[in-house]
Amino acid sequence: MSNRLGILISGRGSNFLAIADAIGARRLDAEIAIVISNRLEAPGLAAAQERGLHAMALASKGLDRETYDRQLIEELHKSRVDLVCLAGYMRILGGHFIREFHQRILNIHPSLLPAFSGLDAQHQALEHGVKFSGCTAHFVEEGLDSGPIISQAAVPVLADDTAESLSARILKEEHRIYPEAIGLVLSGQYRIEGRRVIPK
Ligand code: GRF
Repeated sequence: MSNRLGILISGRGSNFLAIADAIGARRLDAEIAIVISNRLEAPGLAAAQERGLHAMALASKGLDRETYDRQLIEELHKSRVDLVCLAGYMRILGGHFIREFHQRILNIHPSLLPAFSGLDAQHQALEHGVKFSGCTAHFVEEGLDSGPIISQAAVPVLADDTAESLSARILKEEHRIYPEAIGLVLSGQYRIEGRRVIPK
């Protein structure tokens, strides 16, 4: 696979920035071909523009899933994207999109999947009383946060944690493992057996 990334964001964009920094520091051999935000006001979009990257807002509000996904696919192909990286992208992708980029869509999720999929994973972990949580880099399939797991990192949940303090501890690990997971997938040095991603 060649190494042109399409990064989809909806908000802050700190994972996108961690990817950009890893590329800048030559820890990740990739190129950001395009950053797309479905929300015009996303701070991550402004950050991408400040860095001089090809970045665009593609508003999703009011559009049905298929119509929006088709627009996204068109933009990603125009930029000759090889791998789609979701980075705080808050919209579910339809089957059409997922088939178009089969095993070429990654996501980072702030829990140790399959625990606590969906929204507010850090809050779910606190409420459940787990003693460890963490983050998961995974392939995206149809079904929420359900694709094969590429890598995970665990962090302790402390007695006095709030959702904010736990999120911050997890986020640090997200920024470390997501660029590494992207690097592994771009290198092609893995195989998928059932749900298992096995590095070669
Ligand atoms: C991260 O916690 C990520 O795991 C989740 O959404 C959040 C996005 O944060 N999918 P950011 O926009 O990358 O700062």
